[in-house]
Amino acid sequence: MKSNKRLIIGLVLLLTGVAGLLAIRSNPMSMGGGMGMMQGGGGMMGQGNMKEMMKRMMGDQLPPGIDATDLPDPQSQGARLLTRYCTQCHDLPPPALHTSSEWPKVFARMNQHMKMMSRMGSILNPTGQEQLIILNYLQLHAADNSE
Ligand code: HEC
Repeated sequence: MKSNKRLIIGLVLLLTGVAGLLAIRSNPMSMGGGMGMMQGGGGMMGQGNMKEMMKRMMGDQLPPGIDATDLPDPQSQGARLLTRYCTQCHDLPPPALHTSSEWPKVFARMNQHMKMMSRMGSILNPTGQEQLIILNYLQLHAADNSE
C-alpha cells in the first residue's frame, strides 16, 4: 500500500511536469518572454486545474473536505493559515481527521508535496513560522483533543 501510494504520487508529479511542458510548447510567447511564464497568471497551472486533476487521479486518497466556517476556532490564525495553504490541492482537511501524534507525519508529507509542486505551478509554501502555527493548530484540535 505504501509503495503504491508513492507510485501514484510519482505519476501525478510526472503528469504535472508534462502538462507544464505542453503549456510552454503550445504558447511560444511565454518562452520568448523569458520570465513571462512565471508572471501574471500565477504560474503554468492554476490552482483550479491542480485541484481538478488531483481529484480525478487520487480522489480516494484525498481528505474529506469541510467548510472553513466549520473549523474549530475559525477566526484563529491557525484556521486562517490552514484554509490558505491546505486547500491548494484538495478540499479543507478537518483537524479531527488525525490524532495529535499522527499530524506531524502527515504535515511533513504535505510540506514535501508543496515544495515539489511549487516548482511547477502556483502552489504557495508556508514559511517556517506559519508551518509551526498550522501544525500547532492541527494538533490542538486533533481527534484526541477535540471534544
Ligand atoms: C501541493 C499539494 C498539496 C497541498 C498544498 C496539501 N496537500 Fe494534502 N494531500 C496532497 C496529496 C497529493 C494527497 C494524497 C497523497 C498523500 O496522502 O500524501 C494529500 C492528502 C492529504 C490528506 C489525506 C491523507 C492522510 O494521510 O490523511 C490529508 C489529511 C491532507 N492531505 C492534509 C493536508 C494539510 C493539513 C495541508 C496543509 C498543511 C495539505 N494537505 C496541503 C497534496 C497536497
